[in-house]
Amino acid sequence: IMQSLAADYPEHFTLTRDGANWHWVNHPLNIDQRFVFGDASTLPCEPFEYITRQAQGDFTLQDQRDHNLYVDGGMVTCQADWSLEFDIGMSFHEWHGPVPLAHDIGVFDRALQYLLRLQYGHPVRRLNWTMTINPRMDTSPENYPDWGPDRATVTPENVAQKVHLRVELQTLFRLPRSNAILFGIRCYLISLQDIERVEKWRKRLHRVLKSLPPELAEYKGLTRYMAHVTSRLEAADDGAPLSLGIQPDQSFLPT
Ligand code: HEM
Repeated sequence: IMQSLAADYPEHFTLTRDGANWHWVNHPLNIDQRFVFGDASTLPCEPFEYITRQAQGDFTLQDQRDHNLYVDGGMVTCQADWSLEFDIGMSFHEWHGPVPLAHDIGVFDRALQYLLRLQYGHPVRRLNWTMTINPRMDTSPENYPDWGPDRATVTPENVAQKVHLRVELQTLFRLPRSNAILFGIRCYLISLQDIERVEKWRKRLHRVLKSLPPELAEYKGLTRYMAHVTSRLEAADDGAPLSLGIQPDQSFLPT
């Protein structure tokens, strides 16, 4: 993380390395830290905690043993209705237990085989999506009382402001020394009213929601307010074919 931040944002971060003697400067957070790489006692807290406190997004660590992955640690603050506390120590199929349909068609068997072969230096990524009421990052089970009731507040009048598409960019890195896999999650939220400004995205979202199996709508927690979203989007979908891919196909945003 230090190497990437220093290479990608040299105006904010610098990392100077002299053998095992490292010097890390994080200007936005006013941190200036000298430490010995590989000697945890030279940092103010455990190395994983130290650097993930300075990085955006969530991180989990999967150890690889017995031809499986086990989620043995993490630094997580904005989980979408799953709990690190609950999942800690589980295997790949166990922590994916609540996901409907995918187990039966072998998605997790294949995904596990794929990840067990992940190579150092060749990270991979996937996207997921769900919907969230209000631009709220943390929708953890632990904080359900704070966000769960929001679902009942969606009306035809406020649906475009309140309902947000939540997309997670999930990245997977093989770690060079432990052979564990680091799983990074960056969360992005966009309101329905902003999606509507892109014709292709508006129509695509309508078609995805219309064809979503009820089990998945229930799993993603959409059931209660989805009719408000689809009836609004339906009015602006003429059914014309859309180009493949996620590119917006327009170069300006109508106000
Ligand atoms: C080691 C890396 C991974 C971790 C730590 C992880 C973790 C999770 C967690 C915690 C959930 C929520 C389950 C719940 O509802 O309680 C989830 C959902 C899901 N995961 Fe993973 N996952 C990983 C890799 C993958 C991969 C490679 C795939 C590829 C098929 C995948 C497919 C899914 C799917 C389809 C869901 C349902 C929600 C969605 O569409 O994202 N996961 N995952």
